[in-house]
Amino acid sequence: RVAGPCALIIFGVTGDLARKKLMPAVYDLANRGLLPPGFALVGFARREWDHKAFEEVVHDAVKEHARTPFREEVWQQLAEGCRFVPGELGDDPSFERLRATIAEVDRERGTNGNHAFYLSVPPKLFPVTVRQLKQHGLVDHVPGQWRRVVIEKPFGYDLQSARELNAIVSEVFPPEAVFRIDHYLGKETVQNILALRFANQLFEPIWNAHYVDHVQITMAEDIGIGGRAGYYDAIGAARDVIQNHLLQLLALTAMEEPVSFDARSLQLEKQKVLAAVQLPRRLDLYTARGQYAAGWAGGEKVRGYLEEDGIPSTSHTETYAAIKLEIDIRRWAGVPFYLRTGKRLARRVTEVAVVFKRAPHLPFAATSTEELGENTLVMRIQPDEGVTIRFGSKVPGTQMEIRDVTMDFAYGGAFTESSPEAYERLILDVLLGDSPLFPQHEEVELSWQILDPIVEFWAEQGPPEQYPSGTWGPKSADEMLARDGRSWRRP
Ligand code: BG6
Repeated sequence: RVAGPCALIIFGVTGDLARKKLMPAVYDLANRGLLPPGFALVGFARREWDHKAFEEVVHDAVKEHARTPFREEVWQQLAEGCRFVPGELGDDPSFERLRATIAEVDRERGTNGNHAFYLSVPPKLFPVTVRQLKQHGLVDHVPGQWRRVVIEKPFGYDLQSARELNAIVSEVFPPEAVFRIDHYLGKETVQNILALRFANQLFEPIWNAHYVDHVQITMAEDIGIGGRAGYYDAIGAARDVIQNHLLQLLALTAMEEPVSFDARSLQLEKQKVLAAVQLPRRLDLYTARGQYAAGWAGGEKVRGYLEEDGIPSTSHTETYAAIKLEIDIRRWAGVPFYLRTGKRLARRVTEVAVVFKRAPHLPFAATSTEELGENTLVMRIQPDEGVTIRFGSKVPGTQMEIRDVTMDFAYGGAFTESSPEAYERLILDVLLGDSPLFPQHEEVELSWQILDPIVEFWAEQGPPEQYPSGTWGPKSADEMLARDGRSWRRP
């Protein structure tokens, strides 16, 4: 579907996200013919740029980061709709200028009063931005037109602040106009969890406590914190990605079949699962956290977290977090879900691994199944996107010896269509007003309810365990699984 006439207004347009993701995604959408000819892109930031200078910034961002080939005619059309408003978020004259620019765009580009406001600014600036929009009449309801707001995670810092944030946003926007971005939901492979589960007969009958031993959800990164010291040190691994990306993966993996794929039905099922999540009674035994020490990444020596620029040498912020959760419903009774994430780990990989119970009986000599592991279905979110199933097979030869083999589906081999980037999909959905891929406030709150006791518990403990960069994380995380007689996958 092609978006109708509209304008996308980006606050914080000079930031990394806008340059690396948002502007390139807008171009890629235009290049795929999914934006209307009169589309307008309005930037707002504290810079003395004019429209032309902004156009050049967008141009450079597109050239550097867009995924589709550069085509002059597509660019020209997009460039004609670029406008820039220099200003401060707390400043009334700046918002009056913004209002005038948007009105002009409506007239000149035919965007028709349809405006999406993208808050690519730090969360502490959400309240002032939202209030200014309201005060300057930029979000008044006009029949036949739409006004939407897009907020980036983190949606708050804990349950309390998430509620406060929501109160501010909902004073100004009705729920259907609020689009919270969790970019994992924009990934093809994440949406494919639902296709795999609900478009097939093969998996759903065994997707439960009778057959599943446990589930491992991993989001491992080999990068460090880069230039984000200020943001990261205040937040840590659990708030940064478990609260959102990993709990969303858990919800999609564990939820019941929705009655349809509309936003409400999907959100309801996800909420039901999140509401049933149980924390381990012993947080000391069934959570683990770590902080990367010096080590190796990509063949190079790298420094530890505490030596990174802008990180206090006394910081207790975790760069690795692992937790065990259970879901208190019949389908998942007694099945642990182990979640882990970390920076500076051995490799970059995100996957959901469903590990099945062993066959109840093996009619083979014990020696012939020594190398047989557990049947495992791995949804590879990234990289090497695809699905792998591991099962036992007879080793060719005169003996009955059984060993694990894998059966692989890889996107590259199966489809000629290329996957849109997560932000492409999500920005298009905002412009279309299509909300199934955006978490609602209830999900955000439920996720904080799960996480708050864990991070509060950690805050009372000493410093996190150090792990050398380039390894699979702290020993305490391995011990946590060993306690249950299991071990982490080494994908
Ligand atoms: C972001 C986190 O949400 O996701 C980052 O704030 C993290 O810390 C990033 O690096 C990872 O995204 P992706 O798409 O590369 O897995």
